[in-house]
Amino acid sequence: MEARGNSAIFEEWGIGVAEDPEILALIDRLPEPRRQPNLVFGASRHLGAPTGSYRSFRQWLTVHWSEVEQLARTRATQTNEAGRAAVLLPLLGLLDGPLSLIEVGASAGLCLYPDRYSYLYDGHRYLHPADGPSEVVLECATAGRPPIPENVPDVVYRAGVDLNPLDVTDTGDMRWLESLVWPEQEHQRQRLRGAAVIARTDPPRLVRGDLNSAVADLVEKAPEGTTIVVFHSAVLSYLIPTVREEFVDTVRSLPCHWIANEGVGVLPAIDAQLTASPGGTPQQICCLSRRHTPRMSWWPRAISQLDQPNLRGTRVSRRGTRLSRDDQRSKPTAKVSTHISPRQRADFEIRLADDERLNL
Ligand SMILES: C[S@@+](CC[C@H](N)C(=O)[O-])C[C@H]1O[C@@H](n2cnc3c(N)ncnc32)[C@H](O)[C@@H]1O
Repeated sequence: MEARGNSAIFEEWGIGVAEDPEILALIDRLPEPRRQPNLVFGASRHLGAPTGSYRSFRQWLTVHWSEVEQLARTRATQTNEAGRAAVLLPLLGLLDGPLSLIEVGASAGLCLYPDRYSYLYDGHRYLHPADGPSEVVLECATAGRPPIPENVPDVVYRAGVDLNPLDVTDTGDMRWLESLVWPEQEHQRQRLRGAAVIARTDPPRLVRGDLNSAVADLVEKAPEGTTIVVFHSAVLSYLIPTVREEFVDTVRSLPCHWIANEGVGVLPAIDAQLTASPGGTPQQICCLSRRHTPRMSWWPRAISQLDQPNLRGTRVSRRGTRLSRDDQRSKPTAKVSTHISPRQRADFEIRLADDERLNL
């Protein structure tokens, strides 16, 4: 169970609900896609459910079910985890700036501020924004010596799309995001609040819509002369496989870099590459990441691949970014993919190659 080890309260509630036909019957009134523990528990906490024993929760829920039902029908699970920026940062550091960041499935867009957070890698390596330490410090453990950049990236444009964008300036939206943080996760709650304060000083341009329909327009609107990066994190699992593939085709056709931070199994073609590296030489960089304290393992030989001439039609840019032949005339299309597994772990693949090599 996902709550085990992360939230003793939700673990108890989850077991309690699973064994409680009366509460299950209430939850069954919701449309099937909304019968999610995180949604029902988040809505309950939003409305003031006591975060104690299952018994006290159950008592509260039977009285307040109609409010919970209404909220669960109108809100969605959209947890926005700024901490994921710590995993994205080494990849962003490989790209020449200034950067235009475009996030699909952005929620409130808190991952769009990698330049405004401070980082602490492995408990000793700090990295701060250009104007000094941030109130928000993202901690990340690493292995395999990932290329932690010397400086945060120069981000000049941030935009995103979401089916239901949340507004960092709206107290209702931010309260909802807080309700989605599990009860014991006070550190995450503080991080969310701190990241929201940062985002409010310069809110991202978020549009409402489907990622497949909106992403091309967002790329088109990015300022000239910038390196455009489309990224997503914990999003593609919301899509059925054919729609995921449509997105892969769409993003590959655009003049941008692409960073995917998704669970194992979400893009099976990439998973297959993770386990079957040609000649036993990893062409990918793998990352282990915990849900809230990212852990990263970096396979350095993947970087050495950059120097090998077998990647057809490519060259390496000043900072190690591989550029395809077409993109040497325009914008690079290096593909980078990060995989976070459902078990609080991540396999991380970086594939700095042209489209054929990516073979998605
Ligand atoms: C779990 S949240 C992740 C938010 C953020 N990327 C992060 O890592 O913190 C997933 C988000 O994807 C959005 N989403 C799901 N399907 C989408 C689609 N087809 N088009 C745009 N956004 C979508 C949801 O509304 C939700 O806000």
